[in-house]
Amino acid sequence: MIGILVQSLQLDDPNFNWLLGGVMLAIGLGFSALFFFMGKSVDKVLEIREIQDQDREGVNKFLREHWGATDISVRGEIIDGTKLNGFIVYKGKKIIGLVTYIIYDNNECELVTIDSLRENRGTGTQLIGKVKEIAVENKCDKIKLVTSNSNIRAMGFYQKRGFILSNVYINEMEAVRKLKPEIPLVADNGIPIRDGLEFTLVLETSEN
Ligand SMILES: CC(C)(COP(=O)(O)OP(=O)(O)OC[C@H]1O[C@@H](n2cnc3c(N)ncnc32)[C@H](O)[C@@H]1OP(=O)(O)O)[C@@H](O)C(=O)NCCC(=O)NCCS
Repeated sequence: MIGILVQSLQLDDPNFNWLLGGVMLAIGLGFSALFFFMGKSVDKVLEIREIQDQDREGVNKFLREHWGATDISVRGEIIDGTKLNGFIVYKGKKIIGLVTYIIYDNNECELVTIDSLRENRGTGTQLIGKVKEIAVENKCDKIKLVTSNSNIRAMGFYQKRGFILSNVYINEMEAVRKLKPEIPLVADNGIPIRDGLEFTLVLETSEN
């Protein structure tokens, strides 16, 4: 069809340039769509699983890279991240998502860390889903977490997934920096890292 059209046009015909431009555009769009859908389907087969002994070294490295250390501060307490339970998303051998949590005796679950290196593809939502599953299995009635006042993206992310603001620890970071002086004063987005904001997700349990 295109061959017939090209044959009927002269090379110096302005219509030829339009036709050529159109064909190139169509090919470009076709390839973009192909790569887009290939990318999405790759995400669907990413492996997500509970942290096991053989994952520990990689998890510890990941925590050091993304949290500055394996010691994580939660409400002024330092938690040993090398012992935390959690879920990992692997792409091949690379960790591209990690969530860690604690189940307390009082039927509460604490989400300690969550990171997605492939944002906006559902990884973070999948990780939250896994913690919800495990919290329900353990008969927890809520999942709590603390994030920094500077983490605007996380604040939106949690609230869109049903978490509500449940506490504010004013100037929490002053005390935390005494334990972890490596915590920067200002986040990459220019907002001073100062307060701790607690968000809570109330879970539907058979008791409520
Ligand atoms: C917060 C964080 C975990 C979110 O992870 P994420 O993988 O981007 O999360 P998702 O992809 O599930 O969701 C993000 C957005 O992408 C959208 N999205 C999900 N799948 C999508 C897809 N297939 N195509 C297009 N958009 C998609 C979601 O709708 C969501 O938007 P919304 O919040 O407006 O509803 C991630 O930004 C992160 O690691 N941040 C840095 C670490 C951090 O701050 N952690 C929290 C510390 S307390």
